[in-house]
Amino acid sequence: MAFQRRIFSGIQPTGNLHLGNYLGAVRNWVALQNEFECIFCMVDMHAITASLLDPDDLRRSTRELAAAMIASGIDPRKNILFNQSQNPDHATLAWIFNCIARMGWMNRMTQFKEKAGKDRENVSLGLFAYPALMAADILVYKATHVPVGEDQKQHLELARDIAQKFNFDYQKEFFPLTEPLIYGPATRVMSLRDGAKKMSKSDPSDQSRINLTDTADMIADKIKRAKTDPNPLPDTVEGLEGRPEAENLMGIYAALGGMTIEQAVADCAGKGFAEFKKLLTEVAVTVLGPITAEMRRLTDDTTYVDGILRDGGERARALSAPIIAEVYDTVGFLRP
Ligand code: AMP
Ligand code: TRP
Repeated sequence: MAFQRRIFSGIQPTGNLHLGNYLGAVRNWVALQNEFECIFCMVDMHAITASLLDPDDLRRSTRELAAAMIASGIDPRKNILFNQSQNPDHATLAWIFNCIARMGWMNRMTQFKEKAGKDRENVSLGLFAYPALMAADILVYKATHVPVGEDQKQHLELARDIAQKFNFDYQKEFFPLTEPLIYGPATRVMSLRDGAKKMSKSDPSDQSRINLTDTADMIADKIKRAKTDPNPLPDTVEGLEGRPEAENLMGIYAALGGMTIEQAVADCAGKGFAEFKKLLTEVAVTVLGPITAEMRRLTDDTTYVDGILRDGGERARALSAPIIAEVYDTVGFLRP
């Protein structure tokens, strides 16, 4: 059976969007929207798995994230843009997936291990089940392709395992085996303070990341203070090996400038970091400045943003309703 090509991706409304989210995910989504049917979701139910949030903060983050996505170029009329909790079908399917996925599979998830750390006994059950909800987000629409950053690869493999087991257990080719879309020169943007650590919302140091809300001065300052090594930039891509900070900054430079990594290296060969950082700041401010300004404008207009999310939620429910009805029949639940 051929499945209709459909894109789904999600992002957590926990704090601000940073350069890693933008280059690793959102910017690629903007490029996809012209070719495919796309559903983009602010996963507020995932956002409370690590710890409960202040309700006002969660509402504000959800609106801010929606504003950031629209400001980045996602067209909410062409695509579906909504917050996860607006469509209860995600949670319904997630429960069924909790009964499909095996404890052993979930125990292998590296993101869970990282987030739980040494205190495994004391994290929420929701954090453990997180990947099953993520699989439900995707499969409740029978999405076939999921654009994400490198860090989500294992979760997508689990979504395939869940789909496969569901199809096998109920003896029908019901769910597609979803493909990840991971591409571009910045699938894994690293911290500005440590080239071995991912740029992340949860890093306690704000100097480690560039936020989409940062002013031009803040961007310049963060880049100026970014960790480097003492050598000039190499003239080949291979020359970046073993130099994680140089590799990271060069990847960011390439991605922001719309270049391949080869072009970026050729552009900067032999330059010292001081000179290179000026170029990097320039391109970062040029690309991010207009997005930040538009995001600020939209964030103040909560009526507009809430309207977009409500409309998106309705359209999302219309797509998942027939699929979840068939799931009810397949599993043996009486339909409402
Ligand atoms: P999150 O902020 O964890 O909800 O992630 C949202 C999206 O951004 C996902 O597609 C991630 O893979 C992507 N992402 C998050 N951090 C990075 C990073 N440092 N580099 C590249 N992509 C990232
Ligand atoms: N786990 C993803 C992240 O942290 C967010 C997410 C939730 C997601 N559901 C999804 C991404 C479905 C893609 C598809 O980045």
